[in-house]
Amino acid sequence: MTDLETVPHTGLIPAPLSRDADGEGTGRRTVRLGAQTALAAVPGTEDTARWLRATLGAAFALPLPPGSAEAPDTLALALDPALPPEGYRLDADARWGVRLTGGGPAGVFWAAQTLRQLLGPDAFRRAPLAPGRAPGLPEQTIEDAPRFGWRGLMLDVARHFLPKDGVLRYLDLLAAHKLNVLHLHLTDDQGWRIEIRRYPELTATGAWRRRTRLGHRDSPLWDPRPHGGYYTQDDLREIVAYAAERQITVVPEIDIPGHSQAAIAAYPELGNTDVIDTTSLEVWDTWGVSPNVLAPTDTALRFYEHVLEEVLALFPSRFVHLGGDECPKDQWRASPTARARIAELGVDGVDGLQSWFLRHFDRWLADRGRRLIGWDEILEGGLAEGAAVSSWRGYAGGIAAAKAGHDVVMCPEQHVYLDHRQDAGPEEPVPIGYVRTLEDVYRFEPVPPELTREQAARVLGTQANAWTEAMDGQQRLDYQVFPRLAAFAEVAWSRLPAPAARDYQDFTRRMAAHYARLDALGVAYRPPGGPLPWQKRPGILGRPFDGAPPNV
Ligand code: ACM
Repeated sequence: MTDLETVPHTGLIPAPLSRDADGEGTGRRTVRLGAQTALAAVPGTEDTARWLRATLGAAFALPLPPGSAEAPDTLALALDPALPPEGYRLDADARWGVRLTGGGPAGVFWAAQTLRQLLGPDAFRRAPLAPGRAPGLPEQTIEDAPRFGWRGLMLDVARHFLPKDGVLRYLDLLAAHKLNVLHLHLTDDQGWRIEIRRYPELTATGAWRRRTRLGHRDSPLWDPRPHGGYYTQDDLREIVAYAAERQITVVPEIDIPGHSQAAIAAYPELGNTDVIDTTSLEVWDTWGVSPNVLAPTDTALRFYEHVLEEVLALFPSRFVHLGGDECPKDQWRASPTARARIAELGVDGVDGLQSWFLRHFDRWLADRGRRLIGWDEILEGGLAEGAAVSSWRGYAGGIAAAKAGHDVVMCPEQHVYLDHRQDAGPEEPVPIGYVRTLEDVYRFEPVPPELTREQAARVLGTQANAWTEAMDGQQRLDYQVFPRLAAFAEVAWSRLPAPAARDYQDFTRRMAAHYARLDALGVAYRPPGGPLPWQKRPGILGRPFDGAPPNV
C-alpha cells in the first residue's frame, strides 16, 4: 500500500551518514507500527526497549509486547559488533517491520532516536493526539555513526539553579539530538549546587544568594528575591542513572581554585584569611569573576579531597572537571601564606600555585582511576600530566594541548557559547557576548586546520556551553539553547564538509521538520523570525557588541 500523503516530512537532524531514501516521493511503501507490532530485544538492548515502550507507548499508545525477531510486524533490536560501538543500521521493510542494529547498546539507542524522528513530530508527544492511529515510516535503510565520541552540552546550574526536573528534561533533549555528554557546572561564586554530606554548610549557606543582578554586570536592575537550590545526592544518583539509560555521561564540574566564593562564604577558612576577612563574605550576587579564591593551603586541599570523594561516589564518569578558569591571583600576591607556599614549593610565582593546585588533583584523581579535565587556563604554569583541556578562549589552548599530547574538548566561546546573542539586532532578550547565529553555529568546525592527523585525534569532540547569568529559568534557557543546539548536534555527529562548503539551505529545510518536533516537545526555542513578544525583555540591559572579546 502506498499512502505517501500520510508520511510526515522526515528531515533528520543530525544528518545520517547515508540514507537510501529521502522519505518523500520515492514510491516506497509505508511501514506501520500498530497495536500488533511486537518488540524483540537481544540482551544488551533492554534500555532501548524500555525507552521505546515508554516513549512510543506514550505518544501513540503502542503496547509493543515482547516478540520474536523472525516474526512479521516486529520492531527488532539487534547488535552487530562489526559496526562502530555508537554506529547503527536502521532497516524498515513493509514485509517484516523495522530492525535497529547497533554496534553496541549506544548504537541501538541512537537508532531509536532516528526512528522516533522518522515517525513524525507526534512521536515527541506524551499522550496520543488521535488514539488508534498507527504511526508509519517509509521503507528505507539508514547507516550511521558519529564523527566524535564527546558530543556535549554544558549547563551552568550554579548561576541560576535548574531544578532536577529541568535537568532530566534536558537529558531527554540531548538524547533526541544524539548528544552524549552533559557537563554540569555545579559550583561557582554565585552558588554551590551539590549536597556534600561532610560539609552541610556548602548547601545550607552556599546554595543561596540574597538577590540577583538582572542583565549585564553593569546593569542597575536587581531581582530582590533570594535565589538558590541544590541537588541532593539522591537527586544526582537519579540524574546519573537517567542519563546512563540514554547513553549520556554526566561530567561533574567542581571549580577550583577560582569561582569559589560560594564555598568560601560557607567555610571562611577556605579563603585567603590573611588578606581579607572571609567571615563577612556572602554568596556573590553579581556577575563577572570574583577576586575571592581558595587559599593555597593544606586545609583547602584536604577539604576538596573530601568533597571529591563524595563526587566520585556519585558520578561514574572517567573525566572529572575541576574548572581552573579565571582565577584572579591578586589575593595570592598579597598573601604571606601564599608567598611562603611559593617559596616552599619552589614554583614559578602565582601561576605556579594555580598549576600546583591542579597537579595535586590530577594525581589524586589518577590514583582513583579518573582523569582531570579543566578549562584552558590549566595550561598556564604547566599542564598536569594526564589532564585534558576544555578549550574555551578560542582554539589556541586546544591546539597547544593537542600538540603537547593532551586530549581536548573544543568549545570556543567565539562559536559555541549559547548564552551569547543569536542575532545582531536590538531585540535579543539580554544581548551579551559575540553574535552567533544559527548559521554561525552550523559552520563551526571543531578541528582546526593547524593540527596534524595525529594531533587531531586528540580532539575527543566538542561541546556547547550554556552559562546562565542571563537565563533565570527554563524558558530563557530554551531560548538561548534552541535551535542552535540542533546545528551544534549536526556539527558534533555528522561528517560535514569544510565550513564554507556546508549546505545551510539543506539544514534549514530539515529544520522545518525539526521545529515541529521541538514544538511537540514544548521547547521555547528562538523562532527563525526573531523573539516572540513575550521572549523580549525590554529594559533589561545587555551590552552592545563592539567587536572586543565580551565578558558578561
Ligand atoms: C569560562 O567560560 N569561564 C570557562
